Amino acid sequence: MSQTLRDDDGVTNPSANPDLHQVVDQAIAANPERRRLMKAGLGAAAMSFFAGEAALAATTKSAPKAAEAMMGFEAVATSTGDAVIVPPGYRATPFIPWGEPINAAGPAFKPDATNSAAEQEKQLGDNHDGMDFFGFDKAGKAFGERSDEGLLVLNHEYINPEYFYAPDSNAANWMLPFSLEKARKGQAAHGVSVVHVRRNAKGQWEHVKASRFNRRIHGNTPITLQGPAAGHDLLKTAADSTGTTALGTLNNCGNGRTPWGTYLTCEENFNGYFGWNGEHKPTDLENRYGISKDGAGYLWHTVDARFDVNANPNEPNRFGWIVEIDPFNPEAKPVKRTALGRFKHENAELVIAPSGHAVVYMGCDERGEYVYKFVSAGKFDRRNPTSAANRKLLEQGTLYVARFDAGATAGDRMGTGEWIPLVHGQNGLTAANGFASQADIAIRTRQAADRVGATMMDRPEWVAANPKKPGEVFITLTNNNRRGTNPPSSIKADGTTVAGSARPAVDEANPRSNNSWGHIVRWNEAGGEGSATRFEWDIFVMAGQPGASGERAPTANINAGNLFNSPDGLAFDDFGRMWIQTDGSYAHTGEFAGMGNNQMLVADPATKDIRRFLVGPSGCEITGITWTPDRRAMFINVQHPGEMGNHPAAPYKNDGKAYTDNDIARDPTRFSQWPVPGMRPRAATVIVTREDGGVIGG
Ligand code: FEO
Ligand code: CA
Ligand code: CA
Repeated sequence: MSQTLRDDDGVTNPSANPDLHQVVDQAIAANPERRRLMKAGLGAAAMSFFAGEAALAATTKSAPKAAEAMMGFEAVATSTGDAVIVPPGYRATPFIPWGEPINAAGPAFKPDATNSAAEQEKQLGDNHDGMDFFGFDKAGKAFGERSDEGLLVLNHEYINPEYFYAPDSNAANWMLPFSLEKARKGQAAHGVSVVHVRRNAKGQWEHVKASRFNRRIHGNTPITLQGPAAGHDLLKTAADSTGTTALGTLNNCGNGRTPWGTYLTCEENFNGYFGWNGEHKPTDLENRYGISKDGAGYLWHTVDARFDVNANPNEPNRFGWIVEIDPFNPEAKPVKRTALGRFKHENAELVIAPSGHAVVYMGCDERGEYVYKFVSAGKFDRRNPTSAANRKLLEQGTLYVARFDAGATAGDRMGTGEWIPLVHGQNGLTAANGFASQADIAIRTRQAADRVGATMMDRPEWVAANPKKPGEVFITLTNNNRRGTNPPSSIKADGTTVAGSARPAVDEANPRSNNSWGHIVRWNEAGGEGSATRFEWDIFVMAGQPGASGERAPTANINAGNLFNSPDGLAFDDFGRMWIQTDGSYAHTGEFAGMGNNQMLVADPATKDIRRFLVGPSGCEITGITWTPDRRAMFINVQHPGEMGNHPAAPYKNDGKAYTDNDIARDPTRFSQWPVPGMRPRAATVIVTREDGGVIGG
């Protein structure tokens, strides 16, 4: 994080199923028209696998699937430089940085950061995060399978005030005096961008600016509240007496996509935008979701009453949701899907289970928080993926939270688990215990999960499902330095001890008392079925230094050539590679020696081998990942380049003191100039391609 913003969750940073696929391959070979139908039954990730295969076949006469290697690239070394490093034979091209005009009518970015709020609403937002590529159909009007043209949809998680705001008149704090105009500019840089992109005749990607599909959704865009919580008293405000239309989406972290062609954006640390002026005694609900007097330091509540909980006590309840966006319908209002629960959403990994239910896996990112899944009430219509009925699948269903048990053998870091339904009337979620309705559970999801005994995890980040093995799912647990004191402490129902400050005992799934490096847990749903309520789990990797011992020892798949810490972004490509992105310490010394800047690695889910593919520029995290269906272009995001943190090249002043945010705000090119030399650092997408035009990673 920026020094100015308080990071309330940061610690160090302020088996394939060949049978099924063989069956599908044979069916497709026999009757190519059935391809769409068959692939729809395999989940979103598997779906684009088949799209990729088709495109590959269309563009090359050779390259059968078997020729593609799991790790057909040379590992890259760690780096502390201000550049993106990719393997030999690959290109990394920065694209659509913060502030670029969203369409032909959008204003140009001003290098001194003096664009207005109104201008920012027509420009790419800041701090790119989760992202998906949706190919066009043949006509170029709707969701399809093209790899040369489509809509790149991306999140803008937050802003770095030290680079975002041009210095004002206060010498000690460049942000002051703060104003409603500044708050509005910040709000305009959050949310989502829909960007029409096309590969031109030279093979280069361009932003099609004269397109009606280019769109910004930001902190003041009207959004429908749908599902069990819609219309509940806790969602009503003076401006919206019905509790059905929220303004804006904020802290859009990871993402998801549906097989009906919509994008899911996930609201994470929304609490940081709220605060109060004057006196206020926080409620249990406010405490449990981290609402505090000054929030994370954005200052919005000082100038915009919507973010002052004394003036608008229910406004925070309108955030913390999964929001569904139809990128192919620029006029459609986004929808907050309240059936999926309210917490600090990281991403939303949607798969169609063999049973046909849509299953959405989700993590709540804070120390000691939980892993959830939503199972749709209805089933996916495989014959008609974009049907109106499919588009309603996230309206109704059952939300579950995970408990990770030790299983048959103690101490082997594997076990069994259970999905506990968060359903009114079950498991003590009754009026007598303070849960009046399903709406109440949807709004107070964290408290409902506390009540049913879910397992407190080491900061759940992205969840990713293996497209080659139905029911196999992975989650990054980025790090946690608050666990295992004696005696341990737990969450208090009155909200005075929250998950983020409790110190639960270590357990088998979270086996380190000081987990500064993070780990990845894998589970397999019973019978490979996403709607199952039982699973088996194990640990895929414990990150760290190979020399560490005891609880600190990493797993055998960590070696001197693939050191990393704080796994965060996680996604499978359709070949079955698991891509790991990091957002951790780039100190490159002490316990983080040899880890360098944040990076991206590839893991083989079967062998557990891990190999570094990319290293980012100074002070960034690597996040967001998507591919064209042919997998010949991969898009990733470089978020917050130039955050000084504990980077070895962070600047010092003449008096020997480290630069503060106020210093870098006045000298914004001093530390990082990525991606445009000579200019302040700006979050941007990076397009990764191969010089020979081949598939990425293979
Ligand atoms: Fe927005 Fe947990 O990363
Ligand atoms: Ca065990
Ligand atoms: Ca993240």
